[in-house]
Amino acid sequence: MSIINTDINNAIEILLQDDVIGFPTETVYGLAGNIFSEKAIDKIYSIKKRPSFNPLIVHLHSVQQLSAIAKNIPEMAFDLAKYFWPGPLTLILEKQDIISNKITANKNTVAVRIPNHPLALSLLQKIPFPLAAPSANPFKSVSPTAAKHVYHYFKDEIKYILDGGDCENGIESTIIGFKNEIPVLYRHGAVSIESIEKVAGKVSIITNNETNPDAPGMLLKHYSPRTKLIVTDNIFEVIESNHHQKIGLITFYKEIISPSVKHQIILSENKDFEEAARNLYAALHELDKMNLDIIITERFPEENLGRSINDRLIRAAC
Ligand code: TXA
Ligand code: MG
Repeated sequence: MSIINTDINNAIEILLQDDVIGFPTETVYGLAGNIFSEKAIDKIYSIKKRPSFNPLIVHLHSVQQLSAIAKNIPEMAFDLAKYFWPGPLTLILEKQDIISNKITANKNTVAVRIPNHPLALSLLQKIPFPLAAPSANPFKSVSPTAAKHVYHYFKDEIKYILDGGDCENGIESTIIGFKNEIPVLYRHGAVSIESIEKVAGKVSIITNNETNPDAPGMLLKHYSPRTKLIVTDNIFEVIESNHHQKIGLITFYKEIISPSVKHQIILSENKDFEEAARNLYAALHELDKMNLDIIITERFPEENLGRSINDRLIRAAC
């Protein structure tokens, strides 16, 4: 059996052995294991080198499973679930006792979502447990949006990657929790705040505390390539001041003509935020393999998914 394959039965076999697999979703690939297997959960944390204070997301196939996982669920959560699931929205809810403290990093809340990916959903329907899955990258690295990215990171540690093709959204789920039933944004992601607010009204944005993060996805350094990254509003100035370096460039929709730029990736010639988000991590993976001295990226407009893209770029550049 090849390690990258589309056969769900292989995935099931490995999950039933308390082991973990590469798991496709519409956002990014996950590193998935049975939420009730301590061995699988330990392996997820250890191969990802993820600190134990950073909790995992529980993946379901149906909203009917929610009451077994979470309790005291606000009405607004059901409204959001109805509108966005299956899809790239994660909800933070009060946990049921059955959810281990390892998954929630000792919080009394649990993160849940239903992914919108046919292979992921059909796998989840065929197994008698939900899957815990963080993004399938080592702590702080760029998230994987293709099976080959997962292979590159974890070929020595996992036996199987379920190949669901390139991720449709290409950026992680948006995370929403509730404070006194009011929605709170814990992480920008593939659903824009504008779209959430159409359903839920005004959303407040949590401010992070680095030493005891309420939302560890808001940790400052995150999503980083190995190559130095600069995010700028003034591409020409930054190219000029680095013209002796081997430069890789990522822009939203413009082509930049400059002899100093060795390789350039335009994320969406049509100026489409969704297409840009879909291509963002693949662009970082590609440029990171090219032995460049520096990657320069353009800052996006602070609206719609431009906000989520900027969020990732700013953390990646730390
Ligand atoms: O799109 C996604 O959400 C992907 C796919 C695989 O589903 N998963 C993902 O997982 O991005 P991960 O572990 O890389 O990021 C999950 C984020 C972390 O920042 C974690 O801190 C936050 O969710 N989180 C999980 N449980 C939480 C909780 N109870 N309270 C606050 N934040 C939580
Ligand atoms: Mg992650």
